[in-house]
Amino acid sequence: MKWPVRPKQKRLAIFLLLFIAIQLLPSPPRNHTEARQSFSMLSPRFMTDTVAALLQSACNDCHSNNSRYPWYTAVQPVAWYTARHITKGKEALNFDELLRYSTKKQISKLESIAEQLNDGRMPLKSYTLIHRDARLSGEQTALIMRWADSLRTILDTLE
Ligand code: HEC
Repeated sequence: MKWPVRPKQKRLAIFLLLFIAIQLLPSPPRNHTEARQSFSMLSPRFMTDTVAALLQSACNDCHSNNSRYPWYTAVQPVAWYTARHITKGKEALNFDELLRYSTKKQISKLESIAEQLNDGRMPLKSYTLIHRDARLSGEQTALIMRWADSLRTILDTLE
């Protein structure tokens, strides 16, 4: 048997072999915590249920200690890509850790939330492409921005 017969088939065979090979590499650890999050801002003390639900569907996968993992995130290279976004996202902003920080830092993160939303930079486009429930309407974006602004104003008075 002539193997592979044509260059196109050869390329496809190599691609498939590589795809299968990377599935065998270890998956990055998942972002999941059972423990109660005592430093979380995601609490009814700080936001209405509506804002909490919006953050849950559009932000928390990358900005909290608990991400949802749809089946395709178990497939490489999606698993690595997802893990990278979660690590970077949590470094920049973690709603479950925000109360650990100084009031000053909390204020600056709330400012940053309003800025990112105003510039249309968050949630990431690569994420909303797949997660339809994370696409925010203008009204929903404005609601989160108003929440961030009003909480910031309250914290400003404490500073
Ligand atoms: C798919 C992952 C993902 C989602 C979903 C996401 N973000 Fe982000 N976010 C990131 C990453 C990664 C960064 C780090 C900076 C960068 O790479 O752009 C970031 C940065 C930020 C920052 C900057 C923090 C700083 O240091 O000032 C803010 C604020 C932010 N995101 C808010 C949000 C809000 C609000 C939502 C929901 C409406 C959201 N993000 C949804 C991944 C995400």
